Amino acid sequence: MPSTIQSRDPHQEIVPVLDCGGQTTQLIARRLREAGIFSMIMRSDTPAAELKALNPKGIVLSGGPASVFEDGAPKIDPEILRIGVPVLGICYGMQIVCRELGASITPADHREFGRANLEIGSSGELFEAVPERTTVWMSHGDQVTDLAAAKLETIASTATCPFAAVRCVDDGVRFYGVQFHPEVTHTPHGSDMIRNFAYEICGCTGTWRMSEFADTEIEKIREQVGSDRVICGLSGGVDSAVVAALLHKAIGDQLTCVFVDNGLLRKNERQLVETTFRDHFNVDLRVMDASAEFLEDLAGVTDPQEKRRLIGHRFVDVFKEAAADIDGVKFLAQGTLYPDVIESGHGHSGQSANIKLHHNVGGLPEDLGFDLIEPVRDLFKDEVRKLGEVLGVPDAILWRHPFPGPGLAVRVLGDIRPERLEVVRECDEIVLEEIIAADLYRQTSQVFAVLTPIQSVGVMGDGRTYENVVAVRAVETRDFMTADWARIPFDVLARISNRIINEVRGVNRVVYDISSKPPATIEWE
Ligand code: XMP
Repeated sequence: MPSTIQSRDPHQEIVPVLDCGGQTTQLIARRLREAGIFSMIMRSDTPAAELKALNPKGIVLSGGPASVFEDGAPKIDPEILRIGVPVLGICYGMQIVCRELGASITPADHREFGRANLEIGSSGELFEAVPERTTVWMSHGDQVTDLAAAKLETIASTATCPFAAVRCVDDGVRFYGVQFHPEVTHTPHGSDMIRNFAYEICGCTGTWRMSEFADTEIEKIREQVGSDRVICGLSGGVDSAVVAALLHKAIGDQLTCVFVDNGLLRKNERQLVETTFRDHFNVDLRVMDASAEFLEDLAGVTDPQEKRRLIGHRFVDVFKEAAADIDGVKFLAQGTLYPDVIESGHGHSGQSANIKLHHNVGGLPEDLGFDLIEPVRDLFKDEVRKLGEVLGVPDAILWRHPFPGPGLAVRVLGDIRPERLEVVRECDEIVLEEIIAADLYRQTSQVFAVLTPIQSVGVMGDGRTYENVVAVRAVETRDFMTADWARIPFDVLARISNRIINEVRGVNRVVYDISSKPPATIEWE
């Protein structure tokens, strides 16, 4: 599968990060991009020749949890030190290179974890404009304990780590190593150090901008696609929308977008996607109305996993049907993001295609027979939003909260019937309207209504009612792995509750979900 790292503009300033398995590897690439230098993650053992072919301005080796003494610890090609560009080794990345250069590494009997005070001895290029004493974040076991046999000199130290930063003094090797983590915010001047490495040591000028990324990707897509056709599954979410906008700029009417109306969508969702893509971007958009098939599949099904399975399978059939109707399609475009690649455990290898087909397009099988185009697989969500801004994707799409693939099916607990879907759809609309009106949309990560299978007694007018209980859920989260319930002001909750009970037939009680994840999950099913 072609990766976005191939065939880049040879004049673009690139500083790749070789991943030694660290939790914060992606942050290093991010800091470089924030400094105006393009960066992406590659395997730690990428051959020197492959790196050289990218014409990088420098190389960074990340940290990682392994010990250099362990069997199976990440390896590097030592020749990367001799391809003529500076190398920065962070934590494990420092140790592995220092060892290669002849320094002694001592295995740790305990890990050093937390803040440390760094004393900078030689305020050379790496520490330009950094105070002589500054806080750094340590998270390591082994450390360098002797430079005697190596052509290295120490340039900074801490009380427990005499070789907290080193530099190679061999003319043929331009290497800097830091034992601490400059990429994390706990190292207040860390971004300056990474920027110094790129600017002062590698000679970058920081010309990279998201608009340049867009231009480069557009060129690359044109080259890759030639005169063939591409299909792109639109979900209504940010990632696929931005990819569709990018492809449309690149290949215009060679792109066909497919949007599946599964009958489980939010109110006005289909219209929003149609207006944005067909009317605003002039994209050839095929809307597959398969709501009857989806609802038929789901009739009488109450088990959440079974709902997901049926929806996934039906989605494949509908997408296949759409693809079969479009002549000459050779490529499938997807909005795979960097965290998706990493979460699937394929971050180092760049071979996540099959996994992402399943995850991103709702379970498409390999035998659909397309080559993949994944232009944002090196980016993070907020970077994709920036790209979307550059491409003119409307804010209404760019800043949307996520919506689960199985849609409202997992928000109607129990049996799914059209009238129950309509109830949750109306409630969802009210919740969103009130959250937006209270200016809370950007402060919350996800807000929605859930139709419970419970009925409760109420009184309306002079009569008794026995109707549905709706739950309102609002959460704040960065990564959706953990989440806290949002402290929505009572008056906003009161408006939501009043409106739902007054405007949505069949609901006489509204409750607010005050559970965090874990132990609850964000969705109720
Ligand atoms: P949970 O409920 O697991 O949700 O805390 C975490 C995030 O994932 C979304 N979600 C899904 N997204 N297919 C999806 O595409 C699914 O089956 C699914 N289930 C949950 C959920 O909305 C939240 O953003």
